Amino acid sequence: MDVYGLLGNPVGHSLSPPMHEAGYEKLDIDARYVTFEPPVEKGAEAVESAAMLGVSGLNVTIPFKQDVLDAVEPDDIAARIGAVNTIDFSTDPPTGYNTDAAGLVRAFEHHGVSLEGQAVLVGAGGAGRAAAFALADEGMTVGIANRTVEKGVDLAADVTESAVDGTASGHALDTLSELLADADVLVNATSVGMEEDRSPVPEDALHGDLAVLDAVYSPIETRLLREAAAAGATTVDGAWMLLYQGVEAFERWTGEDAPVDAMNEALRAHLE
Ligand code: ATR
Repeated sequence: MDVYGLLGNPVGHSLSPPMHEAGYEKLDIDARYVTFEPPVEKGAEAVESAAMLGVSGLNVTIPFKQDVLDAVEPDDIAARIGAVNTIDFSTDPPTGYNTDAAGLVRAFEHHGVSLEGQAVLVGAGGAGRAAAFALADEGMTVGIANRTVEKGVDLAADVTESAVDGTASGHALDTLSELLADADVLVNATSVGMEEDRSPVPEDALHGDLAVLDAVYSPIETRLLREAAAAGATTVDGAWMLLYQGVEAFERWTGEDAPVDAMNEALRAHLE
């Protein structure tokens, strides 16, 4: 039996175990997905221990996504983002991936959204970094609006320096209406709207030519998505990004095409 798991602290309420185990069941893979909660300063050591114990793969979440870089060989985009959320132990040293980036792209693809033109990203934290590199690597021009402006400006400089194709710039939140006027894509990577009826974006800045992804998945329909839908925009809820980062991890670990529908069903059953 193969063992996969999630490394985080805390990990108690994770949706990854049911999502991945639905995938193993569907493909008749003899595997389990469990959660590990080491002390916060022990991320890299936990990865070394997992390797020693024969764990096949780990997802990594807060607060370990940066720390585990010391214990893996990151692929190109994980190294540029500076964070790893998926580890494959079939190589020595283990390989570190950032499937949040690919997951965001596949969530848009699932909804028929082509990532061309101008993107507006709200937020420059961990999720924001992954989104910024993902959108720029697709060739988009990315305007990053963040409460702490300097953080967005710094992220934009990192992205512009190393993106495969696109460029980025940093802005204050009060420029969002201006940024959105000609935008094709909007991503919320802040925590605004999580368990609260608030949106990080002024309602009257939303329009029908936008595709809007909210990384917040609790609630599934955030205020931002509700207002975006009312404005005629295409909406992509945060569960799609959660799903596809998991799908990307599943495929790297097993070498099989993930049973996306089964994983999606299991995930949404636990979100409702
Ligand atoms: P994550 O890993 O989920 O991205 P994070 O790294 O703590 O979490 O980042 C949280 C993001 O939400 C940041 O962009 C943060 O803005 P700051 O960089 O200014 O802290 C943003 N954020 C959190 N609360 C916010 C609020 N009330 N208004 C606007 N932005 C907020």
